[in-house]
Amino acid sequence: MEHIKKPIRKAVFPVAGLGTRFIPATKASPKEMLPIVDKPLIQYAAEEAIAAGIEQLIFVTSSSKRAIEDHFDKNQELEDELEQRGKYDLLAMVKHIVPEGVSCIYIRQPEALGLGHAVLCAKPVVGDEPFAVILADDLIDGFEQACLSQMVNLYKEQHCSVIGIEEIKAAETDKYGIIKPEEFYENVWKIKSIVEKPTPDKAPSTLAVVGRYLLTPAIFSHLEKIKKGAGDEIQLTDAIARLLAEEQVLGFQFNGIRYDCGSKLGYLKATIDYALQHPNLREGFKKHLQMVCKKNCF
Ligand code: UTP
Repeated sequence: MEHIKKPIRKAVFPVAGLGTRFIPATKASPKEMLPIVDKPLIQYAAEEAIAAGIEQLIFVTSSSKRAIEDHFDKNQELEDELEQRGKYDLLAMVKHIVPEGVSCIYIRQPEALGLGHAVLCAKPVVGDEPFAVILADDLIDGFEQACLSQMVNLYKEQHCSVIGIEEIKAAETDKYGIIKPEEFYENVWKIKSIVEKPTPDKAPSTLAVVGRYLLTPAIFSHLEKIKKGAGDEIQLTDAIARLLAEEQVLGFQFNGIRYDCGSKLGYLKATIDYALQHPNLREGFKKHLQMVCKKNCF
């Protein structure tokens, strides 16, 4: 339990999945590079982590994800060109994608064996520290405070693993990890058990795990022991189920809206909502939407 006094400084971004729901867009480029308006999903995720105090971004990648490394790397040619053209706003934007004091580390997951396996690949870099896991395709608008920052606040009080939770429709339990909750306090549950993708009749609740986790390093020894589970993949949920037997794990219903950008519908919803929030696009886009609604008799 040495980790208890340690702050959360590291975040793991598993980005080695195949993104089959977005084929053909994801045939040669990562789904995490899909933009919402003008920013790739992975940058939203990195910004959320940095806002929560994360200093080390650990990307678990695969062979088709080179664009992610390039995105967080320096692009001298582009910087020189923007400087020459006097485009200083854009120059500042590309220069500060990774702020000072934050570093990026890349690890390969040789085979897409599942989310649990991807997280285990980060063990040599995470070591004996609590850490965050962020799934970039779950884009979360946390309104006043980003989701991960809300979770870190809870971690600082409770010093245990904290999992991001959302209430879902009963018919959709077979797409998520589902918890059996015990009320702790407002928006926070003690997780009594957890199961990956149960059918609605077997689901212990409609409280689903979404792509934000704060985990103690004890999770790694469980990830090392578990076998393939739902979907024939090494599931993070199964390791959390084992962790529960020895440590408290809390479910936290964050304040905010989540968009499942790994699905086409979720991606389109996020694009519309973020475009309507964009200062330079809002008015023009709203007019277009009004016209579309009228034309289609919505
Ligand atoms: P998903 O199942 O949502 O992503 O995994 P996927 O496999 O990329 O997409 P679909 O379902 O085929 O469309 C959740 C997260 O775990 C990562 C994915 O990149 C995604 O962020 N992941 C999944 C890995 O890094 N490695 C894996 O072996 C599996």
